[in-house]
This record gives sequence, C-alpha cells and structure tokens, in this order.
Amino acid sequence: MKGIALCGFMGCGKTTVALALSEKYNLNHIDTDKYIEEKSGMTISKMFELYGEAYFRDKEFEAICTLCENSDNVLALGGGAVLFPRNVEVLKNSGYKLIFIDTDFDVIKNRLESDNSRPLLKTNDIKTLYDTRYPIYENACDIKLSCKDETGEQLADIIIETIAKEG
Ligand code: S3P
Repeated sequence: MKGIALCGFMGCGKTTVALALSEKYNLNHIDTDKYIEEKSGMTISKMFELYGEAYFRDKEFEAICTLCENSDNVLALGGGAVLFPRNVEVLKNSGYKLIFIDTDFDVIKNRLESDNSRPLLKTNDIKTLYDTRYPIYENACDIKLSCKDETGEQLADIIIETIAKEG
C-alpha cells in the first residue's frame, strides 16, 4: 500500500480517520500538525501568535517534505496544507494518494463551534473560508469521500476499498 494523505477542512475528521486506518490496517500514521508541534516545542496556536501564518506554512512545508521521504505513511494534513501547490507537488511526487474527507459543512460547524485551538477561526468567517477552500480540496485530491455520520473505522474501510478498486 502506497502512502495516503488525508486533506480537508478543519474538523472534517482527518485525525480520526488516520487513527482508524493505522489501527485497522496496521499503517503508520502521522498528524502533520502534531509533528510540527513536537519538532518546534510549541503549539500551532502559539506559532501563529509569535511568528505569524507564513512562518507556520514554511514549517508545514518542511514537515511534509521530511515525511514524504517515507512514502507509505498515513498523513493527516493540516486543513490548509493542500492550498499550497508546493505541498501537493511533493505529496504526489512521493506517491501519496490525496483523499479529501468531504464532511458536511453543518457537521464541521458543530464540531468547531467551541474550538479555541485553531487560530484561523479567530480571524475568519468559517463559512467563507469553507466555501473558498472547497474547490481547492476538490481539485487537489485523487479521491473525494463524502461523509456525514460515518465512524472513522467505516471511512477507513471505504478508503481502503476505493484505493484497491481504483489502483
Ligand atoms: C489550518 C488547519 C489546522 C492547522 C492550522 C491551519 C488551516 O489543522 O494546520 O491551524 O489552514 O485550515 P486542522 O485541519 O487539523 O485543524
């Protein structure tokens, strides 16, 4: 199995699905945000606050480049990663299949309602951000997975079946 990279809006369930994929299919999973936090010794929120978004995006690119040296991980990408063509290019050139976790907007909105950990939600209207990004996720992905109330495990099964079918 080649690498799988999960993309999609904040709160769509990338981390949950990555965990389910790793548990059920014995794949190594890495959350790029957690990886960046561990390497830098600070939270993403703090990084935005101290150094700004552009600095975080550089760290995100560096992390993706490093993680792509191994092409059979499951990567849960940050919600903004595929907005930057350099990230998509590295992922695809390394053989990763990009899966868009296309969760219903209402579900996402509910999940993020009382979230204080995501800096972009403090300065942006969530619906505007979602609408702007949606076509970019669609365009970047190899497979779009429409989801509403499936469990992480069910989505993991669908991903594995779809990849097996599509090759
Ligand atoms: C971001 C999403 C976050 C994190 C950062 C920026 C974005 O990840 O990378 O706050 O631009 O959508 P999650 O999608 O895991 O929340």
